[in-house]
Amino acid sequence: MPHITEIEDLKRIYRRRVPRMFYDYCESGAWSEQTFRDNSTDFDLLRLRQRVAVDMAGRSTATQMIGEDVAMPVALAPVGLTGMQHADGEILAAKAAEKAGVPFTLSTLSICSIEDVAANTTKPFWFQVYTLKDTDFMERLFERARTAGCSAIVITLDLQVQGQRHKDIKNGLSAPPKLTPKSIANMMTKVPWGLEMLGTKRRSFGNVVGHAKGVSDPSSLSSWTAEAFDPSLDWARIAEFKRMWGGKVILKGILDAEDARRAVDVGADAIVVSNHGGRQLDGAISSIRALPEIVEAVGDQIEVHMDSGIRSGQDVLKAVALGAKGTFIGRSFIYGLGAMGQKGVETALEVIRKELDTTMALCGRKNIQDVDRDILLIDDDFYRWRRKG
Ligand code: GLV
Repeated sequence: MPHITEIEDLKRIYRRRVPRMFYDYCESGAWSEQTFRDNSTDFDLLRLRQRVAVDMAGRSTATQMIGEDVAMPVALAPVGLTGMQHADGEILAAKAAEKAGVPFTLSTLSICSIEDVAANTTKPFWFQVYTLKDTDFMERLFERARTAGCSAIVITLDLQVQGQRHKDIKNGLSAPPKLTPKSIANMMTKVPWGLEMLGTKRRSFGNVVGHAKGVSDPSSLSSWTAEAFDPSLDWARIAEFKRMWGGKVILKGILDAEDARRAVDVGADAIVVSNHGGRQLDGAISSIRALPEIVEAVGDQIEVHMDSGIRSGQDVLKAVALGAKGTFIGRSFIYGLGAMGQKGVETALEVIRKELDTTMALCGRKNIQDVDRDILLIDDDFYRWRRKG
């Protein structure tokens, strides 16, 4: 077993093990990838205040997200095609999350279905939905999520139209992968991945294939988004989905304080400050930079979470210090999953937990719930991108 000490170690193994098409899918941002890069590098504009001679015994990273106990303020984000990164990937990631005591969010565009994940886990998970045109299909999805015992839905708001990722087009991304000379040549170098994939029946979009109508190529993510997603989505429709579901709702993809206020108005339980991992609007500001203004605007009325760019426990701590009550990791757990299945996701979560705990301690705090902005030293440049008017 290689010595894994940081998320980057998992990424190196992941890159060797998984077909290029799926590695690229995970590791891309939209167009020039500026926002994708900023999401991570902007954390560097925040430094930490070292404090000493503070009693550090009996520390805790435990807290709550939407009223649920979590071992640390980190949830697994919904990631499409997770079951292509490793056979039965969503089931394995959900099991790892359960073991670590953090929430797992299943994507609508997962490979394993809602029922597959429910049958293989014991704790309620969260279910992510896009806003699709087909209301009957949405109703059935909600019904399936209720039957599976999901404790919240996460509605993705920033994907009414899909951002362009050049590599996905060039690679002809699909699930299952289309067999072209290029994809076959690449998959022949990924034998363990291929053998595991041959050992499962789950190789297409488990929540939608056979359930949804009107999509010309059910194996293609871009066909789904172009044909099934609702470009006319507005706040009234979001309120309608909230009524249809009837349970807890997290709205994901908020990057602006005005939108955050609207999310409060529709009665959401939480929002996720997110730019979809830099995969949608290239040129948008990083999530970590968007966070303080949103916390200031609505932080006393709604739980504010954030995602995009988190690759370490230090990043989690910085987000919490800026007011996030929870964070989501996507790529950081996918690296672990692709590298070594469930064990890899467990390792990713343990790496982050240890980093979070140690960093919190060295900043002189014992309890994650007491962490605030006072532990940060903030570069003037952090507040550089402002609306002028
Ligand atoms: C889907 O949500 C994606 O980012 O590919």
